[in-house]
Amino acid sequence: MATTRTTSPTEAADRLRRGELVAFPTETVYGLGADAFQPDAVRRIFEAKGRPADNPLIVHLRRRDQIGQVAACVPSVAQHLLDAFAPGPLTLILPKHEDLPSVVTAGLETVGVRVPRLPLTQSFLEACDTPVPAPSANRSGRPSPTSWEAVEHDLAGRIDCILQGGRTDAGVESTVVDCTTDPATVLRPGAVSVESLRRALGAVQVPSSDADGSARSPGTRHRHYAPSAQVRLVEDPSEAVSGDRHAYVGLDVPPHPDALEAVYVEESVKAYAHDLFHIFRTCDENEVEVIYAQTVPPNGLGRALNDRLRRAAAR
Ligand code: TXA
Ligand code: MG
Repeated sequence: MATTRTTSPTEAADRLRRGELVAFPTETVYGLGADAFQPDAVRRIFEAKGRPADNPLIVHLRRRDQIGQVAACVPSVAQHLLDAFAPGPLTLILPKHEDLPSVVTAGLETVGVRVPRLPLTQSFLEACDTPVPAPSANRSGRPSPTSWEAVEHDLAGRIDCILQGGRTDAGVESTVVDCTTDPATVLRPGAVSVESLRRALGAVQVPSSDADGSARSPGTRHRHYAPSAQVRLVEDPSEAVSGDRHAYVGLDVPPHPDALEAVYVEESVKAYAHDLFHIFRTCDENEVEVIYAQTVPPNGLGRALNDRLRRAAAR
């Protein structure tokens, strides 16, 4: 199949409404969307990505008032979170509406919903005029795409259309919060920090070990975000071993930068998160074999960044 590109959100939306697969930018990463109410199209998302059938999709909406089309109810914690963070990079897990095709939620009785904030995403969703389930637009297991070029690299020939926007803002995915528990539970750390969730809600649970969270959020069970190069975590940049196929990324400058193939020193945690997946992909293009990645203080956006680094390093 030929994959076409467009900068027109209405053209991209027309194609989605005809049952096609359309990749589109959001403020976090690019997503791969279909019409929620065309189950055959949604099934093709899983095929195009090579995504395990037990991993549910996040449904993207133009406006909060569309939530009733996909969720059975909106618990009061979810209302508070919507007041504080919608539109934005937050996904709420809610009880599923019985009319929503079960392929969207991989058979679960809950559904993830998110109202993106990027204006181009909003124009696209407005023109789609239907809820749009969309995982990140990468081949399963690869780093999430933060540019249309990365989508094209992974999915050309496997999807119908790419809505072209710029590099994505956050560079890490949305925070996933289960609103069916009391207090709410963070299933995946992301672009909205746990600290700001606590300020909005008072209490939220954050599972201490990976095992707790992944029992509830199927997607976090699978290996993720990994480049072909081996990722090794370091606390101090001096731990990066010299080599002509070795790269380093982190906040601190390594002692012998010239002894490495590539060195990426990031000026803040925000910049590091924005750049990480792009750096992983660039290293793969340059046939880097080992990427030394410095972990960061585990607060704010640092929690999500460390989570992505740990998963990329897991073999
Ligand atoms: O920022 C984002 O969230 C991006 C953009 C495109 O919106 N999307 C994204 O989707 O990262 P994906 O499919 O790569 O990750 C979705 C995560 C997975 O870990 C999945 O298991 C979890 O959300 N999830 C979705 N629906 C769920 C549900 N009903 N219950 C528990 N976890 C759910
Ligand atoms: Mg993903």
